[in-house]
Amino acid sequence: LKIYIPRDSGAIALGANEVARALKAEIAARGLDARIIRNGSRGLYWLEPMMELETPAGRVAFGPVKPSDVPSILEHHLSSGGLPPHSLDLGRPEELPYLARQTRLTFARCGVIDPVSLEDYEAHGGLRGLRNALAMTPEQIVAEVTESGLRGRGGAGFPTGIKWKTVLEAAGPQKYIVCNADEGDSGTFADRMIMEGDPFVLIEGMIIAGIAVGATKGYIYLRSEYPHAEVTLNEAIGVARKAGLLGPSVLGSRYAFDLQVRMGAGAYVCGEETALLDSLEGKRGMVRAKPPLPAHVGFLGRPTVINNVISLASVPIILDRGAAFYRDFGMGRSRGTIPIQLAGNVKYGGLFEAAFGLTLGEIVDGIGGGTASGRPVRAVQVGGPLGAYFPRELFDTPFDYEAFAAKDGLIGHAGIVVFDDTVDMLKQARFAMEFCAVESCGKCTPCRIGSTRGVEVLDRLAQSIEPERQLEIVKDLCNTMKFGSLCALGGFTPYPVMSAITHFPEDFRPAPVRQTAE
Ligand code: NAI
Ligand code: SF4
Repeated sequence: LKIYIPRDSGAIALGANEVARALKAEIAARGLDARIIRNGSRGLYWLEPMMELETPAGRVAFGPVKPSDVPSILEHHLSSGGLPPHSLDLGRPEELPYLARQTRLTFARCGVIDPVSLEDYEAHGGLRGLRNALAMTPEQIVAEVTESGLRGRGGAGFPTGIKWKTVLEAAGPQKYIVCNADEGDSGTFADRMIMEGDPFVLIEGMIIAGIAVGATKGYIYLRSEYPHAEVTLNEAIGVARKAGLLGPSVLGSRYAFDLQVRMGAGAYVCGEETALLDSLEGKRGMVRAKPPLPAHVGFLGRPTVINNVISLASVPIILDRGAAFYRDFGMGRSRGTIPIQLAGNVKYGGLFEAAFGLTLGEIVDGIGGGTASGRPVRAVQVGGPLGAYFPRELFDTPFDYEAFAAKDGLIGHAGIVVFDDTVDMLKQARFAMEFCAVESCGKCTPCRIGSTRGVEVLDRLAQSIEPERQLEIVKDLCNTMKFGSLCALGGFTPYPVMSAITHFPEDFRPAPVRQTAE
């Protein structure tokens, strides 16, 4: 008997380790011939810890499970149908509507397989993309990725194939692949889920990138807040080395590739690619001016591909099924699928992989089920702490890079944080400025000083000190920060601030008026 309980840190935070311990004890007490597999999460966090038992008819899920539920679940399973249905029985996991409605390409194996079993990975379609890549020229691999329409999933949406082409064509004795796993956006966890639930797909994607551009070394820059991902990644890298997937001859080919995990130290700005490179080189993470692009002058001054976890993890399926298969999903210039992460005050929080094009309303109301508090949804922030706040009036916006940009917003890393009608948008705008002030690397004036002044101006506004004047100043300040900052931290902080002022003006009126309105 195989029993699956996630090792995913979201599930662990909800008690998965305690459930696994109770299960181990129960198995021993009953003398059962059973194996516990610590899989990844399927991303339905309101049902975690979710436990799955393998039956001849497929897997059956139970959740959310507490340690005290374990004996009755096993009893139920062993009774082979003699007992009434168990209250936590969810049936076949693939048939849960939240999962059945998804298009799982990148996350196809996440929550299904044993994350550190290469056999399990291969049995579920793993390494097919790499084997195809090994039979292609680097130019053909780059062309395939370009053809697929894949764009950087870290947030900027730059075409991955074009980035790879730049590095392929750059001269240099040594090139590098750097995976940006400094997933710092609020409400995002897609990178973490893949690293903890299907690390081989990232490793495979990085090897393919290495072959495509002529790089023999890779680094995964992982945020320090992800200790479980660090363990899983290092375990998987060890397995990959032993199996000859990483090393001097990738699967017996003429290509060499090896990689290492490097831990960050908790700075949001180190998710910005040039600050990340500084940090990776052992320096304090400071943003570098571009050009030169990292594709030309990157890690240790060498041509470097820097891609987000999901961008790299989407490559194996493209090389496996072909560019045409992947680009068939999506809308406009946003091709393929995107792992949408629903968080904040939302009923069904979790990961939902879908082709681009669902509307914000379909995602928040239809998939997320509205707020967890049961109160009306008032605002959603899309794209992390630097993303815009969208009101319900904009819920017809399709999830697409260009459509969001046209509404002065951004998809970013596809995290959505939901707020109900108790949210104070003036406080949220202040939070954006404060966040920028705390996380600023300090290199340029609009961000370093502007964010601190922004907090002060919004504080004066909250105290109704010359409110019209403060609003004018904050708008002017946002303009300066947007166009005068060196990187996205200072340059994008105006998005949450200005969207809050534009879409929720009632929260920025002088206090007596606000009280009357309430
Ligand atoms: P960017 O637009 O400057 O660059 C995008 C990428 O394309 C970079 O890797 C850049 O080096 C590369 N690039 C640009 N032109 C190129 C060329 N001709 N050849 C090869 N490569 C080229 O954007 P940036 O500043 O790197 O990222 C900003 C984005 O980061 C924002 O949209 C935001 O959504 C996102 N973000 C993501 C976070 C996360 O946790 N994932 C956190 C904060 C921001
Ligand atoms: Fe540093 Fe902020 Fe300037 Fe970016 S915008 S370089 S974080 S000071």
